[in-house]
Amino acid sequence: MTKYQIAVIPGDGIGPEVTNGTRAVLEAVAKISGHEFQFTEWLAGGIAIDATGEPLPAATIAGCRKSDAVLLGAVGGPQWDNLPGDIRPERALLGLRGELGLYANIRPAVLHEALAGACPLHPQIAERGIDIVFVRELTGGIYFGERGRRDTQQGEEAYDTEAYSVTEVERIARTGFEMAMKRKRRLTSVDKANVLESSRLWRETMLRVAEEYPEVELDHLYVDNASMQLIKRPDEFDVVVTTNMFGDILSDEAAMITGSIGMLPSASLGAPGTPGMYEPIHGSAPDIAGQDKANPLAAILSAAMMLKFSLNLPSEAAMIENAVTKVLADGFRTGDIYQYSENETVQQLVGTRQMSELVIQALET
Ligand code: IPM
Ligand code: MN
Repeated sequence: MTKYQIAVIPGDGIGPEVTNGTRAVLEAVAKISGHEFQFTEWLAGGIAIDATGEPLPAATIAGCRKSDAVLLGAVGGPQWDNLPGDIRPERALLGLRGELGLYANIRPAVLHEALAGACPLHPQIAERGIDIVFVRELTGGIYFGERGRRDTQQGEEAYDTEAYSVTEVERIARTGFEMAMKRKRRLTSVDKANVLESSRLWRETMLRVAEEYPEVELDHLYVDNASMQLIKRPDEFDVVVTTNMFGDILSDEAAMITGSIGMLPSASLGAPGTPGMYEPIHGSAPDIAGQDKANPLAAILSAAMMLKFSLNLPSEAAMIENAVTKVLADGFRTGDIYQYSENETVQQLVGTRQMSELVIQALET
């Protein structure tokens, strides 16, 4: 029996509900597989601001560093929206990414067969399927570049800077190529090299790293064109590697074309040996918080990614993924993915707790 330490950061809004459901699923997996998951809970986000005055207490960072992996719910909410930039709940996420050196954000966007009807694209496009992995650079670019305000002759001005070093691009390029090697060996690098110098360096570096991966077919798209192609021919993408901000935007677009942002998990990874952080890509959804309405599947699928990438338990990860597929095929839906269609399986509306319970039952069958 192996013991694993998992730091849980429930956060704000629907975060606690979806992480509770996910913990229950992990407990059930532990029972079946004979492993032990030891959970410790930490404060971050708005709840941490209320309790300690800061979004990311030092104890949380230390707790995460001591763990094998971090599971995060969501942070943020309207009551903290008017705080100054450095004590907003979102600082907790950026702080964790920076402090743990989580430079690679892996965001799979998959259209589950049972949810094809939830895809807002033309049915002819949806039926070709969508299975893309976004590899988003997470600790550089405009999110972490120099920023500030200054006085000019025209009055006050604010600025944020996009900067990428060769080293930063090389390591995320390798993550992209390695991911492509495990899949269909197609990598699309997204930049804005027709305008930005940082993108020109990005592209040059991608081309150089490509020489180490002759089996991978690399192409490049400008970000504006990429946003169109994702809608026109999503089935032709395999792995997409891009900058911090472009990845933020394109992964939300991909979430929408796969039906619901409530379904998509993510992994944030650093150098080997550092704990990875796993979180649903949806936010804290304050409008439905505490009502047992949130879809826990993105968080549950994030736990599956945790088992695969940080704990090296691929068959346990597959157990969770298969259980989710089965529950969806059986017609169970939270509100965000519930849609009536005469030709499909009869659908049954369920809440957060029941959805997690159903996944647990499906594990055992
Ligand atoms: C995400 C979120 C964050 C980001 C915000 C909340 C800081 O949108 O994880 O995609 O922009 O990275
Ligand atoms: Mn985002």
